[in-house]
Amino acid sequence: MNDHATVERSPDPGREVFLQAVLGGLSERPRSIPARFLYDSRGSALFDTICAQPEYYLTRTETGILEARAAEIAGLAGPGCALVEFGSGSSTKSRLLIEAMDLAVYVPIDISRLHLDQTAAQLRLDYPELRVQPVAANFMKVEALPADIDDAIRRVGFFPGSTIGNLTPEESDAFLRRARRLVGADGAMLIGIDLRKDPTLLTAAYNDAAGVTARFTLNLLRRANRELGADFDPGAWQHEAFYNARLGRMEIYIRSLRGQTVSVAGRSFAFQPDERIHTEYSYKYDPHEFAESAHRAGFRLAELWTDPAELFAVVWLEAGPAPR
Ligand code: AVI
Repeated sequence: MNDHATVERSPDPGREVFLQAVLGGLSERPRSIPARFLYDSRGSALFDTICAQPEYYLTRTETGILEARAAEIAGLAGPGCALVEFGSGSSTKSRLLIEAMDLAVYVPIDISRLHLDQTAAQLRLDYPELRVQPVAANFMKVEALPADIDDAIRRVGFFPGSTIGNLTPEESDAFLRRARRLVGADGAMLIGIDLRKDPTLLTAAYNDAAGVTARFTLNLLRRANRELGADFDPGAWQHEAFYNARLGRMEIYIRSLRGQTVSVAGRSFAFQPDERIHTEYSYKYDPHEFAESAHRAGFRLAELWTDPAELFAVVWLEAGPAPR
């Protein structure tokens, strides 16, 4: 057997996971495809472009808060701590903290090994004094930090971008509890949360005039075509995003513009006109409710910094007694 045959026969685990998620999600009612599959390389590039859209206030507002508060954050963290970033991507926002804080080590956690290694290499070049210890893992599943990160070093978790808002309330509670175990009794967490506000602003942020968010959502169908040999006609689907005020969340769907049948890996799925596939929730927070959920996980909300228009907040959580 030659190498070529080996390659052809071994299934790609990433493709298999995506395939099962698509087959499973399209078979259920309501239909859905999990948001994490939005971030292939084209999706990640489109997300970076979303962050620069005039309507998408989240990134620039959070960056402004971090810039204004970096010295205060460094003071709260104290000298010689470990900064642990959950879902670090290109570590763009962490650079602000790396420059302001006195760090013993920076621990970026990201599922993409390639991205992680490239980012770590660049950080080591840019900050030769900084110890960078990447962890390639799903941040929702990390149980422990690398063994050589001494327990005596204070651990500060960082979860920016209101990515926590893409988790369901149950997932978010589970994440905070896991983070509390990971940072330990004298640890802390720095989290970016998007605040509740005028629905017009929210709706515009997820329906930008340049259509980048629509391309980002519909890329999921293109990805299924590319990677799974599906036959979605991207022109027969539409991005839909609206604010659900009762549940305090943006809801994002892909809507079928007509009755159609789509084939994915030999399975057929019939869609009615206007039938939807759910792709994302993006929760918007009331600070008091967020403080309560942090408290349930064993944290005390010690600081909340916001921008003058109170669009976004960065919160500092101090670990308190561990929850039962
Ligand atoms: C990554 N996450 C915080 C974004 C959000 O705002 O919920 C994802 C996004 N989806 C469409 N636009 C932005």
